[in-house]
Amino acid sequence: MSDLAVLLSGRGSNFLAIHEAIEQEKLDARIAVVVSNRPEAPGLSKAVERGLTSHAIDHRKFESRERHEEAVIEAITRSGAEWVVLAGYMRIIGAEFVERFRNRIVNIHPSLLPSFPGLDAQKQAFEHGVEISGATVHLVDEGLDAGPIVAQRAVSVRGARSGDEVAARILPVEHELYPEAIQRLLTREWRVEGRRILWSA
Ligand code: GRF
Repeated sequence: MSDLAVLLSGRGSNFLAIHEAIEQEKLDARIAVVVSNRPEAPGLSKAVERGLTSHAIDHRKFESRERHEEAVIEAITRSGAEWVVLAGYMRIIGAEFVERFRNRIVNIHPSLLPSFPGLDAQKQAFEHGVEISGATVHLVDEGLDAGPIVAQRAVSVRGARSGDEVAARILPVEHELYPEAIQRLLTREWRVEGRRILWSA
């Protein structure tokens, strides 16, 4: 069984989906720690309510991005987690962090990457007028939403009237896809070759 550290900054609905998948034994893992860079994040209270080890590590209280990241890495290391799951974590992951957990950091992004990386992916998709968008789970490397793709699912956004409506169509798919993709990483054999993941049969 693998131990996960979940990092979040806000609502925490993907964290909850992962937690539920674990409870329903669809995901063979444990949440060793939840870390939020925002003490007021609703996701953090939900973690506390569920009795999980939780830490607020407020980036505003650190003199630099690096010092904050060191504190986050230390909390993860202390928990014994071997995987880092980003669930709406609104901080850039620095090179040292990536190196420390190389190919063990996962993220979910609300678009079909490599389309619409960065902030407000759903608004970007809406403004571009695409008819199909979706969700991508990927490993985190030094690039922005650029690491090897673990899993993707398409969502029709045809006829959506706003970026918020695009987001509302994609979110339930994120909740299905993220636990599934983590389970795949934990249970299948794979390696990274170039930009992609090669899965053994
Ligand atoms: C999700 O749309 C996720 O794809 C993006 O940030 C949002 C987080 O939502 N990375 P939540 O906090 O999991 O509800």
